[in-house]
Amino acid sequence: MEKTINIIGSGIAGLNAAITLSEVGFHTNLISLQPSERAQSVLAEGGINASLNTMGEDDSPLFHFNDTMKGGCFIASSEAVKNLTDNAPKIIEKYVSYGVPFNMENGHIIERNFGGQKKKRTAFARSSTGKILMTALIDEVRKYEALGLVNRMPHHELKDLLIENGILYGCLIKDTYKDELIYLNGPVILATGGMNGFFPEETTGTTQNDGNAQAIAFSKGVEFANLEFLQYHPTTIRITGKRMLITEAARGEGGRLYVIKDGKPWYFMEEKYPELKNLMPRDVVSREEYFVSTSPACEHNIYLDMTVIPKATWKNKLSDLREEIKSYLKKDPAKEPIKIEPGIHFFMGGINTDNLHRSSVKNLYAAGECACIYHGANRLGGNSLLGASYGGIKAAESAIKYFEELEIPNELKNNKILADSKMSTVVKLKDILYNGLTIVRNEDGLNDALNKAIDLLNNCDNEIDKLRIYLGIAMIKSALSRKESRGAHYRSDYPESLDEYKLQSIAKYDDGKINISFRMAGEPYD
Ligand code: FUM
Repeated sequence: MEKTINIIGSGIAGLNAAITLSEVGFHTNLISLQPSERAQSVLAEGGINASLNTMGEDDSPLFHFNDTMKGGCFIASSEAVKNLTDNAPKIIEKYVSYGVPFNMENGHIIERNFGGQKKKRTAFARSSTGKILMTALIDEVRKYEALGLVNRMPHHELKDLLIENGILYGCLIKDTYKDELIYLNGPVILATGGMNGFFPEETTGTTQNDGNAQAIAFSKGVEFANLEFLQYHPTTIRITGKRMLITEAARGEGGRLYVIKDGKPWYFMEEKYPELKNLMPRDVVSREEYFVSTSPACEHNIYLDMTVIPKATWKNKLSDLREEIKSYLKKDPAKEPIKIEPGIHFFMGGINTDNLHRSSVKNLYAAGECACIYHGANRLGGNSLLGASYGGIKAAESAIKYFEELEIPNELKNNKILADSKMSTVVKLKDILYNGLTIVRNEDGLNDALNKAIDLLNNCDNEIDKLRIYLGIAMIKSALSRKESRGAHYRSDYPESLDEYKLQSIAKYDDGKINISFRMAGEPYD
C-alpha cells in the first residue's frame, strides 16, 4: 500500500519535505499554484546561516543559537532553535552534496556578515542564493519524480482542508488549467510561504503567496501564533507592483545608511549602535529609519551608500544586485548612493507548530514561512532559508512518524467551493492592515484598523475574502493584545518590553469569534 503525503507549496520547505519523504519510500503529491521555478524562495538573495566556522572567528552552533534567540527577543521555542542551529552545518553539507556552488575561497565556503549576528555566518551564492539553492533542489526532486515517488502538481490551488473535530483527513485542490476539482486523502504539509498577498505593492515577496491557504486553515480552527510580528526589511525600493529587496548583504559587505541632517550625511546607525552599526537586527534598523525620517531635525529620505564596497566584492559577491539596481533604477550603486525605504518582507507569525512541526490539528503540519516556530519577534537575515530547509525536513519526518491511512469522510466532501478573491477587497484589506500595522503602532491606530476591517467583513459577500478578513482581524487583535514593545512589534503607547508578554500570542477562530491568548512556544500538540 502506497503511503502518500500531500505537500502544499513547492518552494524550499516543500522540496526539502518531498526529498525527505522520498528517501524513505513515501509518495508525495507536490502541489503548488506555480511551479517551483517561480516560488518565492528563488527571490532570496543574501544567504543561509550556519556556523561553519570557516572565517577564523571561533563560531559555533551555540553562538548561532544565542543570536537567534536574542534577535527573536526570547519568545521562540529554545528547543526548536537549538535543533535548527545545531543542524545548520549539516544542511549546508547536504546542499554541497547536491552541487550548490556556494562562494568559496581556498577550498572553504566563505561566510559573510548579516544582521544581528556577531560572527560571519551567512553562506551565499553571489546575491542569488535562493535561486541557486532551488535549482539544485528541483533537480534532486526530479530524480524522485522519475522513480514515481513524487507527483508534481503545479498550477493546482488549495481549495479546502478537510478537517473535522480537530483531525485532518485530506484536502481539496483545483487544477487551475483544467478547472477540475480533486480530493486527496491523507496528511498535509503546508509550505505555502508568507502572507505576501495580504500586502500587494508593499512587500518584497511574491503576491502569488496569497495567504489563502492560511486563511482557510485559520477558519478551520488551526491555531496561529505571533501574527503581530511583521518584518519590515530596512532596505527596499518601490517598483511596479511590489518592492524590490536590496539585500542585507549590501550592508554586510560595507554599505552604510545615512540621512541628511544639518545639510550633511548622518550615519545614524553607526552613531547609535557602535557595535553592530548598520547590521543591527532588522526591527531595530527599520524603526530607526522611521524615527530619523520623521524627525524634524532630518530630511525625509534615507540613503544606502554602497559606493564604499570594493570593486572585487561587487564582482564576486554582489554582481546580481548591482545589475538589478541598474536595470530598475537606472543608477549604478557602485557610483552613487540610492534612496531606500523599509518595506514588508517576512511574516514571523503563522501556523503555530510544536517543535516537531505539528499544528494544532492532527495530520496537518507546517514548515517554512507559513509556520511560526523559529523566529520569535524578529527573524535574523539568513535564518529564513535555513528555517525553511530544516523545517521542511522536520515536518516530513514527523509526517512519516505519525503517518496513518486516512480517508475523507463522505460528509466532508460536500464542501462549498470558494470563488476567487475580489481584487477590490484585497486592496481595501491591504490598506487597512498596512495603515494599522505600521512600524510604530498604537491603540488608536489599531482600533481604527479593527473597526474598518469589521466593516469590510460585514459588507463582504465573497467567502474566501471573508476568511482573509478574519485572518487580517486576527493580526490586528494580536497587535492590540500585546500591550508592550518587542521585536518587530513596537507600540508607542507601550514602549517597554514586559516579562508578562515574554510569550507567543495565539490566535484562534471559532464560529465567527477570534480569541487571542498567550503561551510558551513549542508546547507539544499530542
Ligand atoms: O536581505 C536579504 O538578503 C534577505 C535575506 C533574508 O531575509 O533572509
